[in-house]
Amino acid sequence: MLTVALPKGELLKNSILLLQSVGLDFSAFLDSGNRQLQIYDVSGQAKGLLVRAQDVPVYVEYGQAQLGIVGYDVLKEKKPQVAQLVDLQFGYCRMSVAVKASAPYKLPLDLPTHGRVASKYVNCAREYFQTLDLPIEIVPLYGSVELGPITGMSEAIVDIVSTGKTLRENGLTEIATLYESTARLIAHPLSYRLNMGNIHQLVEEIRQGVAVGV
Ligand code: PRP
Repeated sequence: MLTVALPKGELLKNSILLLQSVGLDFSAFLDSGNRQLQIYDVSGQAKGLLVRAQDVPVYVEYGQAQLGIVGYDVLKEKKPQVAQLVDLQFGYCRMSVAVKASAPYKLPLDLPTHGRVASKYVNCAREYFQTLDLPIEIVPLYGSVELGPITGMSEAIVDIVSTGKTLRENGLTEIATLYESTARLIAHPLSYRLNMGNIHQLVEEIRQGVAVGV
């Protein structure tokens, strides 16, 4: 039996729709009253695990799930040992550097040496500023990072921008984009190589579904 790790949050609905299109029904995860974290598809062919987006690659890396759906942003940050199989084309967002709209910084290189940058994505932020050879202090946060510049704790943030509404409503503006992100289908490499649970066929069906825009 195949196990699929599904991400709570933004990507969940489209992930479930995609799996439904290839015959796997985990829609019970979308019921507001549901508290079950592991459910079986009605066909009994597969099991779904509902996990925090950042934890999807962990379950896949350890082989508890043979497949997972997760944002490229999480893969960039965590660099897990998993196989990236398909760009699923949903969940578009970008990783950006943002500052207060009223700040004098037009480019990341304008930021003051040893200034502070708040982020949930500390590795991405650190690597980015290293490539610019700009020494900065990363302030790790778990959420609401926009408050960094608003409160004066940091000059900038490195964070996900999707619609841009959060930045706008908090008086921040983007000054650079690190990369763009979409949801990815990932696999446990050994399970894929061994074609466990006929994983190849399922992946091919997903690939074809994405290609025709299911
Ligand atoms: C993410 C991100 C931004 C927001 C961007 O936060 O960190 O705050 O979404 O989306 P937008 O461009 O469409 O406004 P999330 O919703 O995960 O909340 P958090 O900051 O509490 O983690």
